[in-house]
Amino acid sequence: MMHKQGIHIVAVTGSVRPGNFTSKALALVVDEIKQQPDARVKRIDPATTDLPLPGKGQSEDAKQIQKLISEASGVVLATPEYHGSYSSVIKLFIENMGFPSVLAGKPVALLGVAAGQIGAIKALEHLRSVCSHIGAIVLPGPVSVAGVQRLFDEQGRCLDEPTEKRIRGVATTLLDYIRRTVCPRVALEEMARRGETKWMQVVSARS
Ligand SMILES: Cc1cc2nc3c(=O)[nH]c(=O)nc-3n(C[C@H](O)[C@H](O)[C@H](O)COP(=O)(O)O)c2cc1C
Repeated sequence: MMHKQGIHIVAVTGSVRPGNFTSKALALVVDEIKQQPDARVKRIDPATTDLPLPGKGQSEDAKQIQKLISEASGVVLATPEYHGSYSSVIKLFIENMGFPSVLAGKPVALLGVAAGQIGAIKALEHLRSVCSHIGAIVLPGPVSVAGVQRLFDEQGRCLDEPTEKRIRGVATTLLDYIRRTVCPRVALEEMARRGETKWMQVVSARS
């Protein structure tokens, strides 16, 4: 869905570890989105959000986030690599987004960070699979960051320019997709709703 105010992105961090690197990497994506005049971003931090285990009822926080995501143009999921997969924090977030999920039909961009040398490849593959299963439109080109603990300082500044560029690219991938694919469709639907059908006559006269 598109807002009158433009593109609205929800960005979710998948680590609740104090000083975690997933949030530091995600902060770059959030900053990149904030620099775009046509886009807004809301960050979800599960460390300060009530996300019950499945079967333990629905929290007010989960309800509010479900509404936020239903109205969002796209979502960024950022996960650490934990034990060769994505984090249980991200899984818990997904479990709280309903069944069927409010993520169905949403463009979703993925970011993964890992301490290890092979990066967050496995985390991202598993997360892609689950997101596709629930009907999200998972965008190609997930970004995996290896050896993440050497790439950020205490203040969250990225110490490696190429890595920072790749991480910021998560925002670009998502926003470009929404601008190219979702915005024109929404504009056409809006025109059709307003009864501006002249363009349809032009198109059918040409074909
Ligand atoms: C429970 C747990 C499991 C982990 N498993 C892996 C792993 O399989 N591969 C890896 O490269 N790093 C692993 N790590 C290290 C994380 O990738 C590292 O902490 C990194 O900073 C990302 O996590 P963070 O966002 O919580 O900081 C693990 C860390 C924890 C706490």
